[in-house]
Amino acid sequence: MATDLLKGKKGIIFGALNEQSIAWKVAEKAHEQGAEFVLTNAPIALRMGEINKLADATNSEVIPADATNMEDLENLFTKAQEILGGKVDFILHSIGMSPNVRKKKHYTENNYDFYHKTMDISAMSLHRTLSTAMKMDALNEWGSVVGLTYIAAQRVFPDYNDMADAKSLLESIARSFGYHYGEKKKVRINTISQSPTPTTAGTGVKGFDEFISFADSMSPLGNASADECADYTITLFSDFTRKVTMQNLYHDGGFSNTGVSNKVMEKFTK
Ligand code: NAI
Repeated sequence: MATDLLKGKKGIIFGALNEQSIAWKVAEKAHEQGAEFVLTNAPIALRMGEINKLADATNSEVIPADATNMEDLENLFTKAQEILGGKVDFILHSIGMSPNVRKKKHYTENNYDFYHKTMDISAMSLHRTLSTAMKMDALNEWGSVVGLTYIAAQRVFPDYNDMADAKSLLESIARSFGYHYGEKKKVRINTISQSPTPTTAGTGVKGFDEFISFADSMSPLGNASADECADYTITLFSDFTRKVTMQNLYHDGGFSNTGVSNKVMEKFTK
């Protein structure tokens, strides 16, 4: 494996809740590759304290920020630049939450206050983060921003609920902001569309266990793990992908381009 891919780079990593979190794996790999970064999560998520283990292991500091709160985000960028001693080169947006999913509201009967919250937390938070970074001029030229998404943005997965709509919006924000930030500062913005992964957010979706097996059987390379997602993310933060921007990049073992697989067909063969 290559080393020091991120040497000299500084970043902000949102969304490491526990060891299963995709953001947790990204933080470990970014550290291995020589990056310096701050970790951030919503104050309520920090109360569990698990993130301190990750902070110790990666020699990083934790700054609380609710990604739906503009003051928190301004404080985050101010403190991150103080701690890191300059502007930021990469940001991981690894945030998702739907009160409708949590409260088991069927998609056709969504609660609209919850719906607003889903959009704000899971999608608009990327816009808020980018807008704050742009206003404060907190990102270096050729910086890289990655958000995490799911193929329910393109195709129906009935129990993914309003998170499907949030992911469509998230991908659209990455594209639109990617244009503006690219023109202004050569910052690139992409989303990675990841296989189903057993994390707190993932397993909250109804029928997750059956669903992850189905996706695995449908993917010629099998499901991509959180560790593999982190590896891919590191390449997008590195200088080897400087002209990749405004893309939704599938990291799913081939699931997105498979109509049907032999493994799935076998289940229907009498
Ligand atoms: P996770 O539950 O470990 O991470 C979600 C994070 O969002 C948590 O750290 C949580 O504290 C944070 N968060 C929630 N509300 C917040 C707020 N207001 N402000 C700041 N942070 C907040 O789960 P996972 O799977 O690592 O999720 C990361 C991203 O990956 C999410 O965007 C998720 O939708 C996406 N993803 C996950 C897949 C899966 O199957 N697990 C598949 C494809 C995408």
